[in-house]
Formats: sequence, C-alpha cells, structure tokens
Amino acid sequence: MSVELADSIAVLRARLNPLRRAGKTIGLVPTMGALHVGHVELIRRARRESDCVVVSIFVNPIQFDRNDDFDRYPRPMADDLRVCEQEGVDVVFAPLAAEMYPRPQRAFVEVETLTDHLCGAFRPGHFRGVATVVTKLFNIVQPGRAYFGEKDAQQLAVIRRMVADLNMPLAIIEVPTVREDAGLAVSSRNAQLTAEQRRSATVLYQALAAVREQVAHGERDAAAIKQQALTLLARQPAVRLEYFEVVDSEEMQPVVHIERPVRIAAAVWVGATRLIDNVLVEI
Ligand code: PAJ
Repeated sequence: MSVELADSIAVLRARLNPLRRAGKTIGLVPTMGALHVGHVELIRRARRESDCVVVSIFVNPIQFDRNDDFDRYPRPMADDLRVCEQEGVDVVFAPLAAEMYPRPQRAFVEVETLTDHLCGAFRPGHFRGVATVVTKLFNIVQPGRAYFGEKDAQQLAVIRRMVADLNMPLAIIEVPTVREDAGLAVSSRNAQLTAEQRRSATVLYQALAAVREQVAHGERDAAAIKQQALTLLARQPAVRLEYFEVVDSEEMQPVVHIERPVRIAAAVWVGATRLIDNVLVEI
C-alpha cells in the first residue's frame, strides 16, 4: 500500500468523509515536515491507535515571526513522503499556502495568558499562528485524536487549553520528547548546526537535567535554579541564552517557590539557530 498525497482540502475531505461515517477513527499528526525520529514517534503512536492516520505537512507562514526562519525552513518533500510510506501513514495532507490561506486571514484563535511567557514573549504572534492553523487542520481533517510532542511544551499547553475552552471534539495525545544519545532534543533545526555547534548545544539539556536533579534533592527556589542553570550554560560561550524559566505546567506562569510539578523550559541560540527544550519536574 502506498501513501496517498492530498494537496487540496476537497480531495482530503472526499477521502475521509466515508471513513468517518463508517465509524473509523482518524488520527492526525500535524507537522511542518522535515520529518525526523521525533515526528516518527508521533506517527507510530497514531498508527497504533487509529484506523486511518493523516500526517499534515505544512510550513505555516503565519506562525513565523522572522522571514529568514521561514525561508530557511527545510522542505524535503520526497524524503518526508518516504518516511510516511514506511510508517504506514494512510494520507499525507500537504497543501500549498494558497490552499490554506486563499485570501488574507481575518479570523484568528488567540489563547491568552498561557502565551505571555517563554516562547510567547519572544515570538510575537507565533502561538496565534499555531492555534489558528491547528484549528483549521482540526476542522479540515476532523480527527478523533491529534498527536503533539512534549518537546514543544508551551505549544501543547496552548492547544490543550484551546481544545478545552472552545469545546473542540477531539482528544489531544502527548508524546514524550525524543532525544539524541547526548540528550539534545531531536529537531528539524538541528540540521542547521555544524558538528561543533551540535556538541555545544548539548549543554541545554545538561542544564535542564542538572536543575531537575536539584529539585529532586529538595531545592524549591526558582531563582536559585535559574542561577545554577545560567552558570552551566555559560560554560559554552557558543550558546546564547534567550530565556530560562520555571513555570507551572498548566498556565505556563513563572513560579517563585516550587510547590507543585513545574515545567522548566529554555530557549538558546547557537549561531543563527534557535533551539528550545524543557523538562517536567514532579515533586
Ligand atoms: P513541527 O515542528 O514539525 O513539529 C510537529 C510535531 O512534532 C509537534 O507536535 C512537535 O512537538 C513534535 N516534535 C518535534 N520534535 C520532537 C521530538 N524531538 N520529540 C517528540 N516530538 C517532537 O510543531 C509544529 O511543527 C507546528 O507548530 C505545528 C503544530 C505543525 C503547527 O504548524
């Protein structure tokens, strides 16, 4: 069986409507392509749990806050189709921008408060673009389940809240972060790093893992945790810190004293490449 490629909404709907009417479960994995082992983990989970697996591949222009990042974003469609084929995906939905945005978009989905800190503070309009395109994808595909990675923890929290607050009829499934041996979270952007930069970048996860240990040993002061992380990160001058925050795992608000499980999240720049990572810390 070969994977089907749909580039129009009408074709996709014509393919999925009879399945849905027949009571088949549809699992959606939204991606921007350049598929790697992290995406594959989401696809495998969807494959185990759904009759029909749809992977969307769309580099969504309205979630990029920098044109160079959008232009530089890799688009290896032939490789991506091969990965989907190997993983037993039923349909790849890969629309052109003109199919998703035939006229200037005037309706947007805004998730308040959860987007105030972390990436939301540094990427204006990013989560509005994500929430809007994910809503469009949910309306186009109408899946029973959609799969998202813990790697983008703020995105996952935003989508969960959007689905709950707007009564969207589907389940959001969270998949743990897939990492390389040295701990670096797998990301499409890792391909932009030189071998040297990649080695330096591992300090990001090392710092997160180190402070998680501190909390496990009783540290409850977020400022002390941040200080410790900054000291570790400073050992790699090629890695420039954008943010390092301790937030509550539901509303994504900064925490001063840790009393409940927290998300510790960071973004760094290595050369012209921005990397993010996070860990959940249970207490
Ligand atoms: P993209 O960066 O392609 O990621 C697609 C999905 O793969 C996201 O849910 C992301 O969290 C997950 N993912 C990426 N790297 C991962 C890793 N190392 N381990 C586990 N999961 C990982 O996120 C987006 O695209 C877009 O914002 C999108 C939701 C598709 C909306 O445009």
